[in-house]
Amino acid sequence: MEAKRNIVIVGGGIIGSTTAYYLTRHPKFNPALHTITLLEAAPSVAAGASGKAGGLLGLWAYPASLVPLSYRLHAELAAEHGGANRWGYRKIKCGSIEAVVTKRKLSNLQKPVDENGKAWEKLPKQDQAAKGLLQDEELPADLDWIDREVVRGWAEMGSPGASDTAQVHPYHFTTSIAELAQQGGAIFKTNAKVTRLITSKTGVEGVEYLDRTTDEICKISDLTDIIVAAGPWTGRVLPRSKVEGLRAHSVVYEVDVTPYAVFTDIELPSDFVPEHRAKMGQKRFHKGRVDPEIYARPFGEAYACGEPDSAVPLPETADQVQVEEAYCDDIISYFATVSPVLAAAPVKAKQACYLPRHIRFGQESGPLIGPTATPGLWVAAGHTCWGIQNGPGTGKLMSEYIFDGEAKSANVSNLDPRKFKV
Ligand SMILES: Cc1cc2nc3c(=O)[nH]c(=O)nc-3n(C[C@H](O)[C@H](O)[C@H](O)COP(=O)(O)OP(=O)(O)OC[C@H]3O[C@@H](n4cnc5c(N)ncnc54)[C@H](O)[C@@H]3O)c2cc1C
Ligand SMILES: *[C@@H]1O[C@H](CO)[C@@H](O)[C@H](O)[C@H]1NC(C)=O
Repeated sequence: MEAKRNIVIVGGGIIGSTTAYYLTRHPKFNPALHTITLLEAAPSVAAGASGKAGGLLGLWAYPASLVPLSYRLHAELAAEHGGANRWGYRKIKCGSIEAVVTKRKLSNLQKPVDENGKAWEKLPKQDQAAKGLLQDEELPADLDWIDREVVRGWAEMGSPGASDTAQVHPYHFTTSIAELAQQGGAIFKTNAKVTRLITSKTGVEGVEYLDRTTDEICKISDLTDIIVAAGPWTGRVLPRSKVEGLRAHSVVYEVDVTPYAVFTDIELPSDFVPEHRAKMGQKRFHKGRVDPEIYARPFGEAYACGEPDSAVPLPETADQVQVEEAYCDDIISYFATVSPVLAAAPVKAKQACYLPRHIRFGQESGPLIGPTATPGLWVAAGHTCWGIQNGPGTGKLMSEYIFDGEAKSANVSNLDPRKFKV
C-alpha cells in the first residue's frame, strides 16, 4: 500500500513548475491518493527570472552533475509536447566576440542617416587594418547582424560543429510546463504568498500563506512534503538555505536575426557617454569595457542582458521588482555600437529580475537540490544563471526524491542541502 502524500511546492518559477510536472508524470503518482499544490506569490507563474531570462541551454553549462540530464530532458520535452512551436526550442550557435569601438567609429555611428538611407560609413583606415587581424572565416558569414568592422576576435563556444547549445523561450517554456502539470493533476494557486512553514524536528505539518486577493492568512495542514522552490526568495522562506537574489536588467528587441547567442567584450572609447545619459547632462561614463550578452530568440526576438547590480534589495514579491530604465538604455547603447541591425530595431521590453544565488562562505555555490535536515522538507533553489538549462533535470530529480526516496537519474550528492546543514 502506498502512503498518501500531500505535497506543497512553494514558488511557480521554472523549478517549481518542472517539479510539479515531473511529480504528475512519476509512475507512482496516483491522483486519487496524492495531492500536489503549488503556491505562487505573484498573480501568475513565471513572474520572476523564469519569465525574464535569456533561455540559453548548453551542455557546457554547470554544475556538471546536473547539466547532461537536464539538457537531454529539454530535448525530450520538446519532442513530446511540440516544444519547437510551443516554446521555441531549437539548436543555436554560440560564441563570443571581442570588439573595439574607436572614437572615429563612434562619431560615424552618431552621424545622421544620409540621403541614401545609409547610416553606416565606410571603414576608417585604422579599422580596416585591425580587421585584417581577424581571420575572415573565423566570424561566421551568417552572423551578419554584428558589424565586422569593430570585431577583433571570435571564439565559438562548446565544441565546434557539435550540437551542444540550444535555447527555449523561458516564459513560454515555464507557462507551458505549468499548464501540463495542471493537466496532469497538480493544483496551482496564484496570489498565494507563503508566510510560514510549520515544521518540527520530526517532520513537516503545514504552511501558512497570504491570499493576496483577500488579504487573509490561510493554512494548509496535514502535509507530508514541502518543496521550497522560491528562487531568490528561498532565503526569506527558509533562512538557513542562504539563497538570495541579485538584480539584472534585460532588453527584448523585436527583430528577426540568424540564431546566434553572442557573448561580448566591447572596448568603448574613453569619452563614450550613452546618449540617454548625455541628454541628462552626464559628461563622463566610467565604463571603458563592457560585456553584455545577446541571444537571437525564436518568435522574432533578440534578448540582451547586461551586468547585475545590487542597488535595490529583493522586494517582497516578483511583481514588485523595480526596473531602472537607464540600465536598460545602457545595454541598448552598447549594442548600438556593434550592431546596426539592433540599433535600428524596436525594443519591446525593458525589464529586470533577480538571479537566485546560493551563497556559502561569501561565495556562490551550486544549487541546492534534495532533502533538508527536517524530514519532508525539501529545497530546489539557487540555480544562478543556469536555472532554465537545469530546470527539467531538477524537477525530475525532485520527483524521484519524493516518490522513490532517492535521486535516480543523476548523482547530485554534491548538491544535497544536508551537506550545507540546511
Ligand atoms: C538576466 C538573466 C538572464 C538569464 N539567462 C539564463 C539563460 O539564458 N539560461 C539559463 O539556464 N538561465 C538563465 N538565467 C537564470 C534563470 O532565470 C534562473 O536560474 C531561474 O529562472 C530560476 O528559477 P526559479 O524557479 O528558481 O526562480 P524564479 O523564477 O525566481 O521563481 C521563483 C518563484 O517563487 C515565487 N515566490 C517567491 N516567494 C514566494 C513565497 N513566499 N510564496 C510563494 N511563492 C513565492 C516567486 O514569485 C517566483 O515566481 C538568467 C537569469 C537572469 C537574471
Ligand atoms: C556520487 O558522487 C560522489 C562524488 O560527488 C561519490 O562520492 C559517490 O560515490 C557517488 N555515488 C554513486 C552512487 O555513484
